[in-house]
Amino acid sequence: MSAVTAPLAVLGGGSIGVAFATQFALSGREVRIYDPVLERRAVVEAEVRVRLEDLYANDLLKEPVQIVLDRVLVASEIAEAVDACVLAQECAPERLEIKRELFASAAAANPQMILASSSSALTPSSMAGDESWADRLIVAHPGNPPYLIPVIELVPGLRTGDGVIDAAAEVFKSVGLRPIRLAREIEGFVFNRLQGAVLREAYCLLRDGIASVEDIDTVMKDGLGRRWAFMGPFETADLNVRGGLAAHAARMGPAYESMGAGRGQHDPWTPELVSEAHQQRREQLPLKDWEERVRWRDLELMRRKRLLG
Ligand SMILES: NC(=O)c1ccc[n+]([C@@H]2O[C@H](COP(=O)([O-])OP(=O)(O)OC[C@H]3O[C@@H](n4cnc5c(N)ncnc54)[C@H](O)[C@@H]3O)[C@@H](O)[C@H]2O)c1
Repeated sequence: MSAVTAPLAVLGGGSIGVAFATQFALSGREVRIYDPVLERRAVVEAEVRVRLEDLYANDLLKEPVQIVLDRVLVASEIAEAVDACVLAQECAPERLEIKRELFASAAAANPQMILASSSSALTPSSMAGDESWADRLIVAHPGNPPYLIPVIELVPGLRTGDGVIDAAAEVFKSVGLRPIRLAREIEGFVFNRLQGAVLREAYCLLRDGIASVEDIDTVMKDGLGRRWAFMGPFETADLNVRGGLAAHAARMGPAYESMGAGRGQHDPWTPELVSEAHQQRREQLPLKDWEERVRWRDLELMRRKRLLG
């Protein structure tokens, strides 16, 4: 069976496992969800049903709920779950020894499939060690919940084989997720490092009595978040100053450098770094199209204004 039609396994039926099973089934895939705990197996199907019913009520599901639900099989054995699967998405508790043991059993039961971990903080190399299956193990870190947040970070370990990240990206795209690839493993990956940078500063502002929790959340909700809902920090800065990222860095770089240094993080945007970032943006958006993209940004903000007020 091909990578875009073969069944998918979900190993661990908690919050993330149920949400992955929902997304995989929505995309038309057969899903087998394994959990060793009887109480979890007894409720997994009902939990997927609630999510599908909510999607249906919000006009985000075009098929009858039962048709989608019929694609989900709850398994009490790992071998039953992974049989003929092209990929297993591990969603077990965030404990190294649990994940290692689970991967060893899954790898033995299916010698070909990709082993993808949802782990938020463990690196692929720490989970794989020097096991024979280390070459097919990656982290595929989702947002929570993956059936509503499409990005998924693909992280290779030191021993991940060539082509495994590409193959996983193909599978995830085929189920409606949007994979991004890290060149190598790093604590927190990208999602939590970006989130961590914002949270660290939020805590500092609170600690120093500059603003309350509610006001800091408001700056994100009614300020930065309005744009960050549809553009990243690079595109936002690129569109904020005529001339793009290079002009933005010339104008704002010293102020951001000073803010970082004041927090003990002195990472200036060097000319080479700014040039690299500007170049990558120009490949996405030539400067001749800049005005048009600024108008697109404003139209997107209007759509959010209609929804959010
Ligand atoms: N919750 C989040 O925001 C979030 C976001 C991204 C990634 N993650 C990661 O996803 C993973 C799962 O997190 P969660 O929030 O769904 O946890 P959870 O506690 O809700 O679910 C874990 C499930 O694993 C089951 N389980 C226990 N032992 C097992 C075993 N040996 N094999 C298979 N399953 C087993 C449990 O019965 C439970 O149903 C973690 O690695 C976590 O770091 C979580």
